[in-house]
Amino acid sequence: MFQPVKIAPSILSADFMHFAQDIEMIREGGAGYIHFDVIDGHFAPNLTVGVPVLKQLRKYTDMPIDVHLMITNPLVQLPWFLACKPDMVTVHAEALTAEGDLRKAVDMIHEAGSKACVSIKPKTPVSALAPVIASLDMVLVMSVEPGFSGQSYIQGTDQKVRAVVELARAAGTSPLIQVDGGMGLKTAPLVAAEGADVIVCGNAVFGAEDPRQAIADIAAAADKARLAALQKQGRE
Ligand code: DX5
Ligand code: ZN
Repeated sequence: MFQPVKIAPSILSADFMHFAQDIEMIREGGAGYIHFDVIDGHFAPNLTVGVPVLKQLRKYTDMPIDVHLMITNPLVQLPWFLACKPDMVTVHAEALTAEGDLRKAVDMIHEAGSKACVSIKPKTPVSALAPVIASLDMVLVMSVEPGFSGQSYIQGTDQKVRAVVELARAAGTSPLIQVDGGMGLKTAPLVAAEGADVIVCGNAVFGAEDPRQAIADIAAAADKARLAALQKQGRE
């Protein structure tokens, strides 16, 4: 069945001096989530925002907050973020490679009442998701190397989205699939056609002349591609 794609504007491209206004703007524009990028300067080369900002944001809005943790020690730091009650938390498979750690992180997120998502970087194979795929609410496929907004989409990520759909199907499950990095009017349709449900946009929304309109336009382009793909498969 056709489900519309959701846009998750990334706060990395927001104006922190007018943060509340930017949050209102994306709500009015119809954003599905606030994508909250946390980078610790170790896991990826940037240092962004953390727990105090998340705490304030949670108090300010009831919009769904999706926290993308690009950090080296998620098992240590997860409780800090979970205490802020975000709707969804994403951890990276590359930061949880020791036996059982990925499972531990997913269980920790669920026990705190949030939804759990696992992300893979561009060079990480989809098979890294296999041990936990059946427990996930969402999978995040990175379409750039984590670190900065404004990078270009890595070609072929759409095929990786397809591979996640297949892995999930084989496991009898269907988590949401999110794609993050270099998403915009031209690239969102590519991944939506292969099964992406949530599109993260930094630059393409906050850098647009009219960010509200940009959210609507990217969502419409992605939905169109998604519907066309479904019709091709004869499901709609
Ligand atoms: C990158 C972050 C992204 C990024 C997206 O490490 O995870 O969320 O800010 O920005 P754009 O859409 O500009 O590539
Ligand atoms: Zn992100």
